[in-house]
Amino acid sequence: MIIGVPKEIKNGERRVGMTPQGVDALVSHHHRVLVERGAGVGAGFSDHEYGKAGAILVDKSKDIWGEADLVVKVKEPLEPEFPLMKSGQVLFTYLHLAADRELTLKLMERRIVGIGYETVQAKDGSLPLLRPMSEIAGRASVLAGGMCLEARHGGRGVLLCGASGVPPAKVVILGAGVVGTNACKVALGIGARVSILDIHPERLSYLHDITQGHIATFISNRMTIGEEIAGADLVIGGVLIPGAQAPKLVTRQMLKKMRPGSAIVDVSVDQGGCFETTKPTTHENPTYMEEGIVHYCVSNIPGAFPRTSTFALTNATFPYVLQISDKGYEKALIENDALRKGLNLIDGKIVCQAVAESFGLGFIENPFSPLP
Ligand SMILES: NC(=O)c1ccc[n+]([C@@H]2O[C@H](COP(=O)([O-])OP(=O)(O)OC[C@H]3O[C@@H](n4cnc5c(N)ncnc54)[C@H](O)[C@@H]3O)[C@@H](O)[C@H]2O)c1
Repeated sequence: MIIGVPKEIKNGERRVGMTPQGVDALVSHHHRVLVERGAGVGAGFSDHEYGKAGAILVDKSKDIWGEADLVVKVKEPLEPEFPLMKSGQVLFTYLHLAADRELTLKLMERRIVGIGYETVQAKDGSLPLLRPMSEIAGRASVLAGGMCLEARHGGRGVLLCGASGVPPAKVVILGAGVVGTNACKVALGIGARVSILDIHPERLSYLHDITQGHIATFISNRMTIGEEIAGADLVIGGVLIPGAQAPKLVTRQMLKKMRPGSAIVDVSVDQGGCFETTKPTTHENPTYMEEGIVHYCVSNIPGAFPRTSTFALTNATFPYVLQISDKGYEKALIENDALRKGLNLIDGKIVCQAVAESFGLGFIENPFSPLP
C-alpha cells in the first residue's frame, strides 16, 4: 500500500502523523511511505531521519494526496487540501466532524473514507486515540497553572510546592477523568495540596486509593465546588459530558469569591469550557484576566509539546495504521471492532450517527458491522 504523511498546515500545529520509527515498520512490511519534506521538523524529526527509515521524501503535499491510498495526519484537513484528495482515499486523523458541517460536506463530496481518531472506541467505551492527548493536557495544565501564578503574569506570586516553612498552594481539579487524573498526579508530585471533584464516586474512590489518601475528594455539586474554589490558588477544569458542551460549573459570581491573582486553567475549553468566563486562547497569547483571576484557556495544549505529543499520539495510532496497511481498510474494519467505530464517512455517506444528527443529515449503517 502507499501511505502518505503530509506536513500539517493548521496554524501553530507542529505535530506529525508518523515518526521515522513508524515509517521503518511500514517499510519492513513492504509498504511505500511518502513523507512531505519538513513534515517532522516541528516535532524534531529531520528529513534525513525519515529518509534513513526508508521514506520517499516528497516536495509537495499535492503529490502525497495524489498518490497515497492511506493518508495519516494529526489534524483535520483544511480548505487548501480538499481539492488534492482523491475519491476512495482513506484518511486517518482527528476529524471532529460533529463540530464542522463544512468539512463533513467536503469529505462527503470528495468520497473520502474518513476514520476519525476521536471516534475509535474500545469495548469498555474508552477512546484510546483521544486518551494520550488528554493525558498530556492534564499533566501540562499544572505546569501552565504554575506559570499563571507567577507575579509577572498577574498571579499571586505563589509557588505550587511552597518552601520550607511556607505551605504549598492549593490546587482544585474539576473532573476526575483522564485530564483530572493526570493533573492530580503532577500536582501531587510537585507537592501541592490537591482537591478533586467528580460526579462519579467510583472515579473518586480510584484516585483516593492510588494516592493513598493524599488528596481530598468531593462529589461535585454547586456547594462543594463553591467551597473548594474559594480557597484555591489554582483551579483546573477537566470535565466532559461526551458529545455535549461542557457544563458551566463555575459562574462569574463564584469566581468573585476566589482570591485575586489566583489562576484557572480550563482544559475543557475545547468543549466550550466549564467556567462562565472561559474564552479560547492560543499558545501565542495564552492568558487573560477576568475578575482578578488569571485565565489560561488554550484549546490545543498538547501542541506546545510536539515531540512528546507526536510520540504519545503515534504510539496509540500506529497499530491501527499497520492493520489498515497490511489488511486493507475493509478487512481491518471488519476485524477490528474499535477501528470500525472510527469510521465516520464512506462513499459520500455518513456512517457516524452522532455526526449525522448534529447536522440533521441522514446516515447509513456501518457496512463493515457483523451481520446480526
Ligand atoms: N485543551 C486541550 O488541549 C485539551 C486536550 C485534551 C483534552 N481536552 C478536553 O478535556 C476534557 C476532559 O477530557 P478527559 O479525557 O479527561 O475526559 P474524561 O471523560 O476522561 O473525564 C471527564 C470527567 O468529567 C467528569 N464530569 C462530568 N460532569 C461533571 C461535573 N458536573 N462535575 C465534575 N466532574 C464531572 C466525568 O465524570 C469524567 O470523570 C474534554 O473536554 C477534552 O476534550 C482538552
